Amino acid sequence: MYTATAIAHPNIAFIKYWGNRDETLRIPANGSISMNLGALRTRTTVTFSTDIGEDSLSLNGRRIRGAALQRVSALLDKVRDMADLLMAASVESSNNFPIGAGIASSASAFAALALAASAAAGLHLDEVALSRLARTGSGSACRSVPGGFVEWEVGNSDADSYARSLAPAEHWDLHDCIAVVNAGHKPTGSSEGHTLAASSPLQAARVADAPRRLSLCRTAILEQDISLLAEVAEQDCNLMHAVMMTSSPPLFYWEPATLAVIHAVRRWREEGSAVFYTIDAGPNVHVLCPASEVAALSEKLRRIHGVRRVLHSAPGGPARLVAPAAEKTV
Ligand code: DP6
Repeated sequence: MYTATAIAHPNIAFIKYWGNRDETLRIPANGSISMNLGALRTRTTVTFSTDIGEDSLSLNGRRIRGAALQRVSALLDKVRDMADLLMAASVESSNNFPIGAGIASSASAFAALALAASAAAGLHLDEVALSRLARTGSGSACRSVPGGFVEWEVGNSDADSYARSLAPAEHWDLHDCIAVVNAGHKPTGSSEGHTLAASSPLQAARVADAPRRLSLCRTAILEQDISLLAEVAEQDCNLMHAVMMTSSPPLFYWEPATLAVIHAVRRWREEGSAVFYTIDAGPNVHVLCPASEVAALSEKLRRIHGVRRVLHSAPGGPARLVAPAAEKTV
């Protein structure tokens, strides 16, 4: 029996990944930059054993079958090929954040799975190889392998499309306050959304301008310039949502409360607060701010009609191996 347990954090992108040049390998249309969320984590134990007949997956204690299990098995197959291993595996995964909170968990899930499965199989993959492996499970998962503030270099092939750290978590005490406006499952998942990106006439312009935004974002992070980060991250978010809304068929992820938070954040910034918003493929709004503003900002967000709860997190470290243990919920 071969077993290993890993922890990984989800991440929030300031420059978004939307659309692939290669759907199967998840080679993205453009590079992206994100921050790991240290307070939120996925813990995954992978056990390969001759006693196991077929791959199994349990998520927060619930047995999962179908497409989600197939996606996990596809990554396990890659690990089995690399390690020359024929055994099936059991995968037990738990999140410390509420599963229905609408926070993307595929990034932390596939980063933790890539690390736990490769270690259980006796492979010692370096950060680049791990990031590439995680990418094939979920694109944004490649950014949850390195720590802190992370850039996914667009690359041209499986070999050179991976993420690396721009700065460690301790570099900048930037906090993410997540205004949860709808905890339900989104109607169109990101994998399907990526396939629609190219059908928007705006996608080509968004991708062509990406090097400029990536460069501004890199500078903003390295110089801890929240005003510059606010400008480029909000523009990047709006560009991605403009592409979503103009795809065929169009994707509308926002709800009335999403727009209410956007307007509030813009108003607070005009009043002098160093805050900005960004939104993934869902209605919840991530509001970024310095550590000193977290308490007041969370309170103000909670008062907006339609905001159900607010989670918050500081920057997080890399995916790492740990001892197996029970996970608490935040
Ligand atoms: C909007 O990584 O979830 O959050 O590769 O199909 O799993 P798959 O897609 P995923 O896409 C993330 C999209 C996004 C933007 C981002 O995180 O960069």
